[in-house]
Amino acid sequence: MPPSDFANADIDKIVDALTTDEAILLSAGVGFWHTHAIERLQIPAVKVSDGPNGIRGNHFFMGTPAKCLPSSTAMGATFDRDLLEEVGLKLLAREAKLRSASVILAPTCNIQRNPLGGRSFESFSEDPFLSGMLCSAYINGIQKGGIGATIKHFVGNDKEDDRTGYDSIHYRTTSSGDLSPSVHAGSRNMPLHGAIMTAYNRVNGIHVCENPELLQKILRDEWKSDVMIMSDWFGTYSVDVGLNAGLDLEMPGLNKWRSLESVNRSIQSRKVTAKKVKERARKVLELVKKCAQGAPEILDGDGLERTLDSDEDNALMRKFAAESIVLLKNDKKVLPLDRKSLKKVAIVGGNAKAAVLSGGGSAALKPSYFVARPAGLVKALKEVNPNIEVTYSEGARAAKTLPTLDFDLFTESGQRGWTGSWHAHENDDSLVALPTPIKTQYVDETRMFISSSSPAGITKKWTLRMKGYLKPRERDCKFEFGLTAAGRAKLFVDGKLVIDNWTRQRRGVEFFGCGSEEETGVVELKAGVKHEIYVDFCNVRGPADGDETETIMDSNPGIRLGGAEVEDPDELLNSAVSIAKDADAVIIVVGLNGDWETEGNDRTTLALPGRTDELVQKVVAANPRAVVVTQAGSAITMPWVDQVSSLLHTWYLGNATGDAIADVIFGNHNPSGKLSLTFPKRLEDVPAHGYFHSEKGKVTYAEGLYVGYKHYQHRNIEPLFAFGHGLSYTSFNISDLRLSQPIVSGDQFDLKATVKLTNTGNITGSQVVQLYIGLPKTSELTHPRWQLRGFKKMRDVKPGESREVELVMDRLSVSYWDKEWVVENGAYDVRVAFTSEEGVGEGQELLGRFNVEKGFGWRGL
Ligand code: BGC
Repeated sequence: MPPSDFANADIDKIVDALTTDEAILLSAGVGFWHTHAIERLQIPAVKVSDGPNGIRGNHFFMGTPAKCLPSSTAMGATFDRDLLEEVGLKLLAREAKLRSASVILAPTCNIQRNPLGGRSFESFSEDPFLSGMLCSAYINGIQKGGIGATIKHFVGNDKEDDRTGYDSIHYRTTSSGDLSPSVHAGSRNMPLHGAIMTAYNRVNGIHVCENPELLQKILRDEWKSDVMIMSDWFGTYSVDVGLNAGLDLEMPGLNKWRSLESVNRSIQSRKVTAKKVKERARKVLELVKKCAQGAPEILDGDGLERTLDSDEDNALMRKFAAESIVLLKNDKKVLPLDRKSLKKVAIVGGNAKAAVLSGGGSAALKPSYFVARPAGLVKALKEVNPNIEVTYSEGARAAKTLPTLDFDLFTESGQRGWTGSWHAHENDDSLVALPTPIKTQYVDETRMFISSSSPAGITKKWTLRMKGYLKPRERDCKFEFGLTAAGRAKLFVDGKLVIDNWTRQRRGVEFFGCGSEEETGVVELKAGVKHEIYVDFCNVRGPADGDETETIMDSNPGIRLGGAEVEDPDELLNSAVSIAKDADAVIIVVGLNGDWETEGNDRTTLALPGRTDELVQKVVAANPRAVVVTQAGSAITMPWVDQVSSLLHTWYLGNATGDAIADVIFGNHNPSGKLSLTFPKRLEDVPAHGYFHSEKGKVTYAEGLYVGYKHYQHRNIEPLFAFGHGLSYTSFNISDLRLSQPIVSGDQFDLKATVKLTNTGNITGSQVVQLYIGLPKTSELTHPRWQLRGFKKMRDVKPGESREVELVMDRLSVSYWDKEWVVENGAYDVRVAFTSEEGVGEGQELLGRFNVEKGFGWRGL
C-alpha cells in the first residue's frame, strides 16, 4: 500500500489498535524533522521544515539551496493579503514539496513589544490585527497548496535572551494583546490543517508546553481548535506534565523526554494514563492523515530535497520584495533616480556589498540565488547607459563578526570553497582523532552550523579538519581572521597557529547560544600568493572562565571562519566621502545583518553598528542628494534623519534583494510598502523599555495593551516614523467616508465603511487604506486611542482614477478583551487614513462615528 493511503485511514480504529508503546513513540519525533512511522499499522512519518521566509529542508549545514523570501516584517509591510496568499501557494507550498516536507514550521506570529527582540524580523507586525490577517492569508495559501502550516510560537516568545526560562507576566493582555494574532489568524482559518508550536517561555508562571489554561482551556475548549500541538525544538521540559496539559508532540526526537522507558514509568506511577498518551497520539495521526490528503505525492515520493527556480518564481520573488520596500522620505523628490541623466554613481556603505538576505537562526537558509545590491543596481544602470561609471566604498564596517569567506576560499583544484575531513575518535569518550578520515567532503560555506549533519557511524566525540586556500587579489595586506566555535577550534595559516579557540574559550551567543565568542588573529598576506587555510575543529567545548566543563555539542556543533582586510577606519570613511563628492548620484546602503538580528539573543541597542551613523552624516554632507537605503528586519534609530531627503527602508529581502531595490530606486516599481512596526526616535521611547529584560526570570508586560503605535499615541510621543507610514512616487486622496448602520444579530456584528480613493498624481501607484477604531469613551476601561481594525491594499490605481474602497468590520473589529470579548454600547470613532499618524491633513484622513446600542459579550473565535 502506498503511504498516502493513510489519507483514508480510520483514525478511531488505529487509535484502538495502538499499543501503549506505539502511542508513546508517536508522541515524540524522530531525528530533527520527522514524526514517527509505525510500519505494523501502515502509519507513515511526515517531515516538517522551517519556516517562515523559505523552506530550508533537513540541513543547516550544506543545506539544499532554497528560495529565501523577504523577512516577515517585510511581508507585514506589504499590507497585502492577496499577495501573501499567492506567495503561500505559489512559493512556499511548492518549496515545501521540493524539500519533501508536508508541514511548514511557520508563520511566526509573535509581537514586537520591543524591536530589540532578536526575532522581531520573523513576525509580521507590532499590531495583532495586521499580524493575524496576514498570518491567515499566508496560511490559506500554504493550505491551498496541500501543505500544513504551524502557527508559532504560542505564546509570548517575543524576546530571545533567557527564552526557555522567563515567565511572561500578562494581565489584560493574554487574550486581547498577545494571543490575538492567533485569534485573528484562527478565526479566519479554522480548522487549521497543520499545527501550533508552543513557545519556549512560561506564561503567568507555567511553561506554555505544560500550561492547561492555554493548551486545553483556550486553544481546545474556547477556540475549538483541533490542530496538533507540538513543542518548540528542545522546548519540552517534562514527561507527565506536558502530556497531561495537552502537548501532543515533543520535537525533535533527540535527547527525548518521551522515551519508552520514561513514559512507561510515568504510566506505572499513575502520573499520566495510557489513555492520555493515546489522546496525544491521535492528534499526531490526524495530522498525518491531513498530510496524506493534502499532498500525497510527498509521502509516496523519494524523500529527497530538490531545488527548482523558474522565471515565473523569480519574477514573483522580485515583485514581492519590491512591494515591501518603504519609502520613508522623499522631500526633494530625488527619487526615483533618472538613470539616463547619470554619468557617475557612487555606492557606499557596510551593507552595500555584504550578502545580507535574512535574519539569523532557524529562519536562515542557503539561497538558491542571490542578487546582491551592487549587482542589481549596476545591471539596472547599465541597461540604460552602458558607459556609466560606478564607484564603491564600504565606508564603515558594520559586521558584528568578520564576514564569512564563502566567496574567498578555494580548494586545491581551484573550486570555490574548501574541503573537510571527518575523523572518528579512538572511542566515544576519547579526544584523540584517528588519522584516517571516515569521510571527506567539499564544503562551500565557512559558517558551518553542523547541527545533526555529521556522518553516520562517527563517534560521539569527533573531529572535522577543513582545508582551503586564500589568495589576495589586488595588494599585499594585513588580513584579520575570526574564528567562532560551538566546540573547539584552531586556525592555522600556512602552517602557523593564528587563532587558538581551543585551549581556553570565552562563551558567546552564536549557534543558538552554544558558540564561543569570536577570537581573532592578523596575518600578512601577499598578493597573488596562495595561502593555506587550515581549521581543526572538535565537537567538544573547551574550558572557559566560569565554566570548566568540556561539554559535547551533540546537537549544536558549529564553526565559523570569517575574515577581512584590515582597514584604517578613518581612511575608509574618507574614501566614501571622496567618491560621494565626485558622483552625480550617491546610494548609501547601511544596516544590520543576521548576526545582529538573530534567534538566540536580543539586540542591546537600536543604533546602527560602529561608525555607520557618522558615515551617513559625512556622506550626506558631501552630497546632499544622496539616497539612503536602510536594511534591518526591525526598527533602527537614525540620528541623521533630518539631514537626509531620500530614505528607503528595505528589511531583509531574500534572493531578489538587489533587483527589488533597483526597481524602486529607478522607478520601475512605485513603492507602496508601509511600516509594519513603529520606528522610535530613541530606545527609551519603546513601549516595553524598562520591562523587556528577564529580571530573575520574570518579564512583566507592564505596557499592557499599549504596544507599538498605541503606546506612542497614548503618551503623545512622536516616533521617528509611525506605524503604517510609507510614501509613494504619486499622491493619493481619500474622501466620502460612509458608514453603514451597524447590524447586531445575536453575537455577530456587521458594519461596512466605504471611502473614495483617488490617485491625484501623475503615475500609477498602489495605496493601503487603513481603518482605525476608537472604542467608546464611556467605557469603564481605558483603551488605546486608535486600533487598526481594517485595511485594504488598492493595487495599481491609475493617475486621475478614483475607486471605491469597502472595509468590512465584524465583531472582532469592535471588541476588547475583559475575561471575554466585549462589544460595548456607545459611540465608536472611526479614522480612515494612509498611516497611523494623526493630523496629516485634508484628503489624507477621514473621521466618522457610529453607535452600538445593543452590545454583547462573546467567546471563542
Ligand atoms: C525555533 C523554531 C524552529 C525550530 C526548528 C527553534 O529553535 O524556535 O521556531 O521552528 O527551532 O528549527
